[in-house]
Amino acid sequence: MKIKEILSQNKILPLATICSESDARNITTKLIEAQCPILEITLRDERVRSILHIFQEYSGFTAGLGTIRTIDDIDLAINNNFTFGITPGFSPNLCIYAQSKDFLIIPGIQSASEIMQASEMGYSILKFFPAELSGGANKLKALQSVFPDISFIPTGGINKNNLKSYLELENVICAGSSDFVSKDMLAAGEWEDIVLNIQNIKKDLI
Ligand code: 3PG
Repeated sequence: MKIKEILSQNKILPLATICSESDARNITTKLIEAQCPILEITLRDERVRSILHIFQEYSGFTAGLGTIRTIDDIDLAINNNFTFGITPGFSPNLCIYAQSKDFLIIPGIQSASEIMQASEMGYSILKFFPAELSGGANKLKALQSVFPDISFIPTGGINKNNLKSYLELENVICAGSSDFVSKDMLAAGEWEDIVLNIQNIKKDLI
């Protein structure tokens, strides 16, 4: 299945900073159990770099590497067989490098100008970050008629309460948030609560 289909079928993209092998295994197992077999793993803790291979051990699970800011980060994603990578902003250099390696990245954008540049480079799935601070769902709605061929993954400030306002837009394929697998639940190892939380969010979207 193509990444666009995987994202649009799942509707939500949980984001998490994972620091240990056991957390990596637990979160992957629990997201699969919650029927949300996808995760953006952020590069916000150095410890995650050595455990990225774990996410590939689970069949049917799609792992994306987030917070990619350098060429080394792209190599890290490729060496660990990641399906895709996400950059918080738009970097033509990183896009050119990723394309030379045939690696899919989802560039982050905030403005019409950045959308035009990313589109010129062949990208049609973009992260809209930080979504709430950059104009939120109203801004994405305004961009729809100008860029009908572009799909967005809004991220940044999205939670259970404003999620629907994004997902009801035609140009949003999926919404990302660190709120779906909260830091507190992760830190406390509340795996069953994580499953319930994701199940409830997904149930609410039907
Ligand atoms: C990101 O990296 O996409 C954001 O930091 C996520 O934002 P959130 O924590 O508000 O979901």
